[in-house]
Order: sequence, then structure tokens, then C-alpha cells
Amino acid sequence: MASVPELIRRKRDGETLGADELRELIEHYTDGDLPDYQMSAFLMAVYFQSMDADELAVWTDAMLHSGEVLDLSSIAGSKIDKHSTGGVGDKVSIVLAPLAVAAGLKVPMISGRGLGHTGGTLDKLESIPGFDVDQSARRFRELVDEVGAALIGQTDDIAPADRELYSLRDVTGTVECIPLIASSIMSKKLAEGIDGLVLDVKVGSGAFMKSLEEARELGRTMIEIGRSMETDVRALVTDMDQPLGRTVGNALEISEAIDALRGDGPDDLVEVTVSLVTEMLDAAEGVDDREATRRRLRGWLEDGTALEAFREMVEAQDGDPAVCDAPDDVLAEADYIELFEADRAGIIRSMDAQEIGLASVELGAGRMEKTDDIDPAVGLAFRCKRGDLVEPGEPLLEIHYNDHSNLAACRRRLARSIEIGNDLDEAPPLIFERLSQP
Ligand code: URA
Repeated sequence: MASVPELIRRKRDGETLGADELRELIEHYTDGDLPDYQMSAFLMAVYFQSMDADELAVWTDAMLHSGEVLDLSSIAGSKIDKHSTGGVGDKVSIVLAPLAVAAGLKVPMISGRGLGHTGGTLDKLESIPGFDVDQSARRFRELVDEVGAALIGQTDDIAPADRELYSLRDVTGTVECIPLIASSIMSKKLAEGIDGLVLDVKVGSGAFMKSLEEARELGRTMIEIGRSMETDVRALVTDMDQPLGRTVGNALEISEAIDALRGDGPDDLVEVTVSLVTEMLDAAEGVDDREATRRRLRGWLEDGTALEAFREMVEAQDGDPAVCDAPDDVLAEADYIELFEADRAGIIRSMDAQEIGLASVELGAGRMEKTDDIDPAVGLAFRCKRGDLVEPGEPLLEIHYNDHSNLAACRRRLARSIEIGNDLDEAPPLIFERLSQP
């Protein structure tokens, strides 16, 4: 291999590196033969100089093949996953997976945990008593084959290069870099053995990508990686400027997802979910009449078909299926509920999703460090959203909490996050745009 300092210098100076050079960097790093300080310098060079499409395809492929790549080809049906770039109140996967199964798709989904202001699907699922997200690769295949969907955590064998690189990026200021984010996400997703992937690229105050331009670039970069690996990848860019739905917090979000699976979900959650499943179906089999597909999907939320698919998923992963019938009896509830009230009359102009996510972390609903414990019962339940008119003293939301010592910090963040004014700027669309391969 070329000398590593030489590769770092060439990337630093904006050169394009060759496929063998990039592969060797990943291989040596994963084998422990390349020290963190050299990889850190290389990542920082990528942060400033980026990678072109060919470099990124090779880099992602090397990360993908640093571990096990699942082969689901013997399972009948189209295997299509969805991935969200992360947000606040984002319980879409919990509604989407059973709805997609009801629509005839197979959904092999390897999800993540919450970190910082964003929540994670695994933490939400674990608030269902017994639900086991730690499944072997063999059981993952069985679940996809027999139940239609599996929602599990990343195993040690999937894309180990990403695990190492992500930890290093976390402490070297190189997380916020589109090629590194795109290769990180895609290496894990493509290891699932999928036929297609629909990305929910979130944009706004609660998202990684704060501007539409950045979100578009991230979406396009991941789609291009998919194209280089002959996998159908497409994206919806969706609003994360306020939390999605009515709740933030693990058990609260499961309860809200079950409402949606019973046909009684909040409009934004249902709209984003139905739109993403329509894209999944389009990736699998082509959709001629999108409106008819959307109506069918909404019908399966309303007539209980999707809820039955969820019940099977919960049972198959050892969760208590009674959560589908009486979530309030099964899910943990916080000991205390306090109201957070409007301090003036007016219209809710904005709800900073990042601050709201952090307010829920103050209660224990999320974690700032990977090793932090979370409390499944705590969180926030909104009674108002952006654009609503409010009176002074009117409850804007409920704070569900267990520990009095967390409340003041949570309230301070909420006070900063919700802006009440006299008028409203034009509301951003819920779905900004659809991106697909040319
Ligand atoms: N999520 C990932 O999996 N990787 C990143 O780099 C950022 C978000």
C-alpha cells in the first residue's frame, strides 16, 4: 500500500484517490493495523476535500464488505427497507413496517438507538415489555421470511468498519460531513440484503440537515451510492422543523404509533408513513396510480389490517401483544404529569424540534452518551402544534416525568423552544420533494 502519510497528504490537497488505496485504508483500519491518529487525519481531509462519486462508491463498498452481508435472496418477495436520517418524535418505522407487510412487502430493518436530541426506534420498541431487538442473523432471516418484517439492532458482524469509524468521527469533529454520513448509513443498509431502500431525509431544526440544500445533497449522495451498487434507492425530504406527531418519548410514541395503526394517528405521521410506503411499493413493483395506492394503505390503517401485522411482529420478537389492544395497561407510565402553559396569547410560530428533543432528554427519554440509561415512561405530549392559536395559560403540552430534579431544566428548554407571536410565516410543506435515480 502507498504510504499512509502520502495518502493523507494527497487527500488533504484535493486529489482523487484510487480504489485500491481506499479499500486498503478501510481494510487496514478494520484489522487494527492503521492507528486512529492517521485515520482521524484522513477523515478530516475528507471533511474539507470531500470524495467524488467513484471514491465514495468504493469507500462504501469497502465498509459494507468489512463484515457480514446478509443474503435474503432465497426469501420470496421484495425486500425493501426505509431509513430515516433521524428526528424528534419520529415513530414512522413502527407504523411503516407493519403497513408495508400488510401491503405484501418484506421489511428487513436494522435500526438504531437514540443519541443526543434524536430518538431511536430500538429504544421505542423496547418500551414494549419483552420486545427483543437483539436477534441473530439467522433469526433475522426467519423473521423476515415468516412474519414479513424484523426490527433489530445492529449486530457486531454488520459493517464493523462503520462502527469503528463512527466512534472516531464522534470524537474528531468529523460527523457532520455528507460523504461520511452517506457512506456510514449506506454501508449498514446495503448489508441487510435489500432489493430497495427508501430514505426519509429529514430537514429542519430537529434534523442533522438544517437546510433544504444540505438535505437534498445528502439524499442525492445516498441515491448515487445505491446506483453504484445497483440497488434502487430513493428519498423523500420531509419536515423536521417541529416534532412529528403529538408525542416525544418512548412509551408515549409507541402508544401514538398504535393509535395510527388503529386509524387514529395524527395527520403528519400518517401522511409521511403512507408516502414512504408508497415509495417502497414503487421501488418493489412500480406504482401506476399513487392516489389509489395511498387510499388502499390508509384503508389498512383504518380496518385493523396493519395493526394485526404489528401484533404478529411484536409476538415474534417476544413482546407482549396485549400492547395492541390496551397500550395504557401494558406500557410504562410516568408517576407525574405537569402542564406547560402559554405565557401569552398568540399563534405558535415555531417549535424548535432540537430543543424539544433535548427537553425530553432532560427527563430521561434519551441519552447524551451512548452508555446512558433511558426511562421509557417519560416524555412530552403536545396539545398544540405550529400554527395553532393559543390563549395565555392554555396548556401547550404535558410533561410526563418521574424525577422532580429534571423538571426545571426541561421547562427552561421548552420555554426557549416554543415561540408564540402575532403572525405566522408560511408553513413549510410536510414533504418537500421526492428524489430518485435518474
Ligand atoms: N447516522 C449514521 O448511521 N451515520 C452517520 O454518520 C450519521 C447518522
